[in-house]
Amino acid sequence: MTQILIIGASRGIGLELVRQHRESGDTVVATARDEESLTRLRALGATAIKLDVSDVVSIAGLAWQLDGFQFDRVMYVAGVYGPRTLGLQPPSVVDFDAVMHTNVLGPMRVLPQLMDALAPDARIGIVSSRMGSLTLRANSAGWVYRASKAAVNSVMKDIALSLDGRALCVSLHPGWVKTDMGGQEADIDVQTSAACLRRVLDGLKAGDNGAFLNYDGSPLPW
Ligand SMILES: NC(=O)c1ccc[n+]([C@@H]2O[C@H](COP(=O)([O-])OP(=O)(O)OC[C@H]3O[C@@H](n4cnc5c(N)ncnc54)[C@H](OP(=O)(O)O)[C@@H]3O)[C@@H](O)[C@H]2O)c1
Repeated sequence: MTQILIIGASRGIGLELVRQHRESGDTVVATARDEESLTRLRALGATAIKLDVSDVVSIAGLAWQLDGFQFDRVMYVAGVYGPRTLGLQPPSVVDFDAVMHTNVLGPMRVLPQLMDALAPDARIGIVSSRMGSLTLRANSAGWVYRASKAAVNSVMKDIALSLDGRALCVSLHPGWVKTDMGGQEADIDVQTSAACLRRVLDGLKAGDNGAFLNYDGSPLPW
């Protein structure tokens, strides 16, 4: 049976991925930070693990809780946008750290713990954003978030290299999605985004390792 790990599944894209994978009959392990969300994940039939990706103590307890699993798919979804700046407003240290610790340091601490919990031919998707693309950039809105997603693309590449053919790792842009982060004026609903992200991971070929991909599977420029 296919085993799936979703990091950051309390709401939005992560929660929808849990719903869809459970509907497909997959074994799902999913993380959240609060008891209400953990209960909701258990009600969906997932194994729920309490994890705050910005908390080193919380992360330290992850590996043993995953003992015995061999994940076919891992999705790192947890993310925060941070200050909704439009220009070059310097962020506070608190805001900068909150974004970077969740979006960049989190994957750097969480994903290395999973290397022994990957099934052969596993696929790791890190939910990044086209806002991290330097080539596609047309304005500086949300520049802390943009910097974090550019940085996590670098993290993804290092993980892809270190996997050395054992598994595939990619960065994924989920679309502009109607969630708490994306807002209700966004382009696509969460069901469409999650379904597309699943399809992209399923369709990966060896040559895609280390790629930055849109939710329709097309490559995005760095
Ligand atoms: N929506 C979009 O249009 C869009 C576009 C491009 C990229 N993305 C990316 O897609 C991913 C999911 O976004 P979304 O739209 O689903 O956003 P969302 O509805 O705001 O959900 C964010 C998720 O991240 C979790 N999270 C935040 N900080 C965390 C932490 N320290 N530890 C563990 N979990 C944490 C949240 O958990 P809590 O409930 O505990 O806060 C929540 O489950 C993010 O990485 C985001 O950057 C979204």
